[in-house]
Amino acid sequence: MQQVKAVVALAQGEPVQLTTINVPDPGPGEAVVKVQACGVCHTDLHYREGGINDEFPFLLGHEAAGIVEAVGPDVTSVAPGDFVVLNWRAVCGDCRACNRGEPQYCFATHNATQKMTLAEGDLAGTELSPALGIGAFAEKTLVAAGQCTKVDPSARAAAVGLLGCGVMAGLGAAINTGNVTRGSTVAVIGCGGVGAAAIAGAALAGASKIIAVDIDDRKLETAKKLGATHTVNSKETDAVEAIRALTPPADSTGHEGGADVVIDAVGRPETWKQAFYARDLAGTVVLVGVPTPDMSIPEIPLIDVFGRGGSLKSSWYGDCLPSRDFPMLVDLYQQGRLDLDAFVTEEIGIGDVEAAFEKMHGGDVLRSVVVL
Ligand SMILES: NC(=O)c1ccc[n+]([C@@H]2O[C@H](COP(=O)([O-])OP(=O)(O)OC[C@H]3O[C@@H](n4cnc5c(N)ncnc54)[C@H](O)[C@@H]3O)[C@@H](O)[C@H]2O)c1
Ligand SMILES: [Zn+2]
Ligand SMILES: [Zn+2]
Repeated sequence: MQQVKAVVALAQGEPVQLTTINVPDPGPGEAVVKVQACGVCHTDLHYREGGINDEFPFLLGHEAAGIVEAVGPDVTSVAPGDFVVLNWRAVCGDCRACNRGEPQYCFATHNATQKMTLAEGDLAGTELSPALGIGAFAEKTLVAAGQCTKVDPSARAAAVGLLGCGVMAGLGAAINTGNVTRGSTVAVIGCGGVGAAAIAGAALAGASKIIAVDIDDRKLETAKKLGATHTVNSKETDAVEAIRALTPPADSTGHEGGADVVIDAVGRPETWKQAFYARDLAGTVVLVGVPTPDMSIPEIPLIDVFGRGGSLKSSWYGDCLPSRDFPMLVDLYQQGRLDLDAFVTEEIGIGDVEAAFEKMHGGDVLRSVVVL
């Protein structure tokens, strides 16, 4: 057991606190990782606001890279000294999805068995709930060994750690879930960290037209840098009409047109409805933004669902398989073909997480990254 500094959310809506926590030595199937960098994601704020569940206190942070410090007795997949990106879907290898060769859909992903605990104050000894089973706004954290994916150790931790959540979700929404390929036309609604990554993913896959849609012009500027060929401010212009106008059918059938793949990276009924109608016949809608429990599928005539054909998909973590996707994406980053640095708006200290939440609310950043 050792004691380290970490950022916790003790109660709903209260500012997060820098405190000391106890990190157990790794048991079977576990690893202790010395965190080098961890991005501040919207989901951390959702935890703090009680929007995920009420299992306070939370140990926040989950988009991280670091060095494995120690592993449990039976662990062979990683060793002390390995540079790893942490993932929140360590696959089980034994469920129906894993057995049918689709481990990216594993129904029984797992985390460390032992609990980290608070080491200070009245609540000393209380078990922590690590965000997404990671908890990496901490000098060190305890995870399942399967949550550690080895990547090129010469890569910048602040950039590649972002593959651990939002950036992977966006890249994968385009490449894995949407099957964007050479010549596809793509529209992305919402260009925060996730949507901007979907744009980068579409560019990487060879999409011929990439339309970025947002209500904030600053996000549209960044989207252009990451590969958007067109931008639409949907506060000023109707998104569906604008996307259709930019993707006319290259035929003489007279149908309205639309993008082959439309990605909703906001996750609200109104943006999903835009995505539904902005895609071409037989096109694909990908929902990667996460709706809140009170939201429902918008009113859409069932005949339109049938008549427009195609597929309506959701994307968990970009349908990624960390062991397959992280090393490959880090290599592309190292070769200069995937600009992960563009997602790092600022590097901050471990005491600056609360301030980073404020900036996120103001829409000023794609990602603030805690560097340790
Ligand atoms: N599926 C997954 O596995 C996964 C993983 C990580 C994050 N997410 C989710 O993805 C979503 C986006 O995350 P983020 O980090 O990019 O958030 P963000 O706050 O950085 O970005 C949201 C963007 O959407 C824009 N926006 C808001 N309302 C809009 C509207 N009506 N029309 C167009 N644009 C609008 C905002 O201006 C902003 O640029 C969140 O719901 C998050 O929870 C999903
Ligand atoms: Zn499984
Ligand atoms: Zn996240």
